[in-house]
Amino acid sequence: MTDFRTIIEPFRIHSVQAIRKLSSAEREAALHRAGHNLFGLQGDEVLIDLLTDSGTGAMSSTQWAAMMDGDESYAGSRSFNRFQEAVADLTGFTEVIPTHQGRAAEHILFTVMVRSGQVVPNNTHFDTTRANIEYVGAEARDLVIAEGRVPASTHPFKGNMDVDALEATIDEVGAANIPLVMVTITNNSGGGQPVSLENLRAVRAVCDHYGLPLFLDACRFAENAYFIKLREPGCAEKSAREIAREMFALADGCTMSAKKDGLANIGGFLALNDPETAKSARNLLILTEGFPTYGGLAGYDMEAIAVGLHEVLDEEYLRYRLRSTAYLAERAEKAGVPTVRPPGGHAVYLDAKGLLPHIPAAQYPAQALAIELYRVGGVRGVEIGSVMFGKPRPDGSEAPSAMELVRLAIPRRTYTQSHIDYVGEVIEAVANQREAIRGYRITEQAPWLRHFTARFEPLA
Ligand code: F0G
Repeated sequence: MTDFRTIIEPFRIHSVQAIRKLSSAEREAALHRAGHNLFGLQGDEVLIDLLTDSGTGAMSSTQWAAMMDGDESYAGSRSFNRFQEAVADLTGFTEVIPTHQGRAAEHILFTVMVRSGQVVPNNTHFDTTRANIEYVGAEARDLVIAEGRVPASTHPFKGNMDVDALEATIDEVGAANIPLVMVTITNNSGGGQPVSLENLRAVRAVCDHYGLPLFLDACRFAENAYFIKLREPGCAEKSAREIAREMFALADGCTMSAKKDGLANIGGFLALNDPETAKSARNLLILTEGFPTYGGLAGYDMEAIAVGLHEVLDEEYLRYRLRSTAYLAERAEKAGVPTVRPPGGHAVYLDAKGLLPHIPAAQYPAQALAIELYRVGGVRGVEIGSVMFGKPRPDGSEAPSAMELVRLAIPRRTYTQSHIDYVGEVIEAVANQREAIRGYRITEQAPWLRHFTARFEPLA
């Protein structure tokens, strides 16, 4: 058969949800009410919602069908058995602990394994991972390779951990003060960038040398596996499933948010091999999440995840998934908006510093860009810049974030190519009036995680 150029959505639409575009006056009113904070908008006020790829995807008819057969038994649910088999088959880990989402798995793992004053290395900790480590009084240390911090670098595995920096950290603090090493696949906070098998093997070798356990933050494991298939020498002939199994085989356990590559709207798990750690984790689970055969999930959620973990490794799906993200990045670049290169798996990151050089970091250029995408076209992204990461200085000013980005995260199997074309047009319209875009000042903010609730005022 002729191999056609167009990579299509490998599904047909079975059920739809209406979306409606507000008038520009309505969008302006919504922005004012929300204090120019996009977290304050109602979902119905957004036309294309790229705030997150977490829990926002569409489930398949097979997942919905499995949900109908959910077993809601408090103890010994059949749905748990299916869930456990799916996780064990994929990861090879023998102990499977369901949680209501990823951060609950993190909280339990770190409470059980990490002590105050210790250091946990990672390529880049996601916010909740960092917060859960800091909550137990330990230090979360980011050790991504240097290329991973440079938006324009096109290194194929920008999520890799700097193995020399890992060894230096172990030398500095001592192996006894490192309870575990983590690697986040893909590296969300660094632009959704993949980690190579070669790098995972090198990290594993260091962990073996010092007797340290290695855990994966596996939220986007399938996207990472397919990047490996496309980019890593010697991997083109392997299936995404084989590569995923190889990744997990290099680790002692993982935390997972099934809201990403579990293709579910809620759920997560902690999976590992050490029975003693698992026992302590289950005891804590009973206290905070629920009995070990449901851990904060309904039986039907576990059914949806069991099917989702299988579907997500379909290579037609993964090819379409990575291609549709790259397609949006190409549209943005063509419109003259610089992006973090190469595009990641789940999101496109627009470089607001590059687009809006006339707005200083203290006036939040990425917030200004995110607001403009909503104002012009009803598109919601999220600021990842000085609103999120700015640090107060003693003199009342702020140390800015290293990068000023707007993340456009793409929900799985939810929007079609014409939706993405529309977003491309909105980006272009915003780019064409870049000189007119002004900065913002914060009028109200919380003492931590201020980006969720801060209020802003446009500067004249
Ligand atoms: N780890 C990574 C790499 C993540 O991206 C997330 C969530 C989590 C852990 C926590 O999982 O939300 O199920 O508790 N990321 C979402 C995002 C929120 O928008 O990137 P959770």
